[in-house]
Amino acid sequence: MTEKSGRSFLTLLEHTTGKLRSILRLAGHVEKNPEDFRGPLAWKTVGLLFEKSSTRTRLSFEAGIRQLGGGSLFLGADIQLARGESIEDTARVMSGYLDMVIIRTFGHDRIETFDRWASIPVINGLTDGHHPCQALSDFYYMEKVFGGLSGLSMAFVGDGNNMARSLAEGAALLGVHFILAAPEGYRLPEDEVAHLDSLARQNGGSVRIVSDPREAARKAHVLYTDVWTSMGQEAESRQREQAFKGYVIDGRLLAEADPSAIVMHCLPAYRGKEITAEVIDGPRSRVFEQAAARLPLQKAIMIDCMERKGQ
Ligand code: CP
Ligand code: NVA
Repeated sequence: MTEKSGRSFLTLLEHTTGKLRSILRLAGHVEKNPEDFRGPLAWKTVGLLFEKSSTRTRLSFEAGIRQLGGGSLFLGADIQLARGESIEDTARVMSGYLDMVIIRTFGHDRIETFDRWASIPVINGLTDGHHPCQALSDFYYMEKVFGGLSGLSMAFVGDGNNMARSLAEGAALLGVHFILAAPEGYRLPEDEVAHLDSLARQNGGSVRIVSDPREAARKAHVLYTDVWTSMGQEAESRQREQAFKGYVIDGRLLAEADPSAIVMHCLPAYRGKEITAEVIDGPRSRVFEQAAARLPLQKAIMIDCMERKGQ
C-alpha cells in the first residue's frame, strides 16, 4: 500500500470544526481577492476522475484549478478503470502523474480504497454516501446570506441521501439546527443521527428526523431539497415518486418557514417533483447564487489540501 497522503477531503465529519471554519474563511479571502490566489496550483496537474455525470462539480473544479494556476485533466468512462482495471492499481498509477485528484463515483468505499492506495490528495466530488464539497459550499453561502451560522435552522425535505448526510455532518460541526423530513425507509440511520445530534449539541446545533415536512419547515431559515432519485438509483424511480409524494417544497411549505427564509437546492432540479416551479423560480430561491458559491469554496479546499502536511 502507498503512503497515505493525509491531505484528502472525503467527508466533512473527518475534519474538525476548526478546520471547516478555516476553509470557510479562506474561501472568503479567495472570493474577495482572487488575484492574490493565482499561484497555489502553478505547475500542478489535477485529475477529475468522474464515473457519474456532472455539470456544476466538474465546471467549478476545472475553472477553479485554472484560476489557481494549475491544469486539469478530465478522466471519464474511457479510462481502463471502466474496463475492469482495479482501483488500487489506478490510484498508484495516477499518483505518479498527478498532484491531486477529484473523484465522483458510486459506493463511498470506492473513494476510500482509492485514497488508501494513492499518495496524492483525493477530494470527494460526490459518492453515493457523501457530497462534502457541495455541503460546505452551502454553509459558506448561508453564512454570507445570514451573516453567520450560529442559531440558523435548516429543513431538508426529501431523501436521506448523500446530500442530506453531508449537510447533517456540516450542521453538527458548525452548530446549525438541521431537521430532515423524510418518509420511513428513506432516512439517515438512527444511530448516525444520534451521533451527529450529540456532536451538534456540543457546537450549539442539533440534528433530528421527522416525518412531517411542515414540522421541519416551521420557522426554518433555509428550506433545502434534492432529487428524489439520485444517480445510480434510476431503476427505483417509480417507487421513489410514490414514496416522496408530499415531500415537496411548494408555496404552502414555504409559508411555514421564517419570514427571512431562503430556498436552496444543490441542482439539478426537477420542477413539479421535489420542488415547484413557482418556488424555485420565485423570489426566495437562491439556487443559482448557491451554485456559484462552489467556485471560491472549492478553491479553498484545494489550497488547503495542497498545503496541508501529510499524516
Ligand atoms: N450539485 C452538483 O453536484 O451538481 P452536478 O451533479 O452538476 O455536479
Ligand atoms: N443526490 C444527488 C445529488 C446530485 C448533485 C445524486 O447523488 O444524484
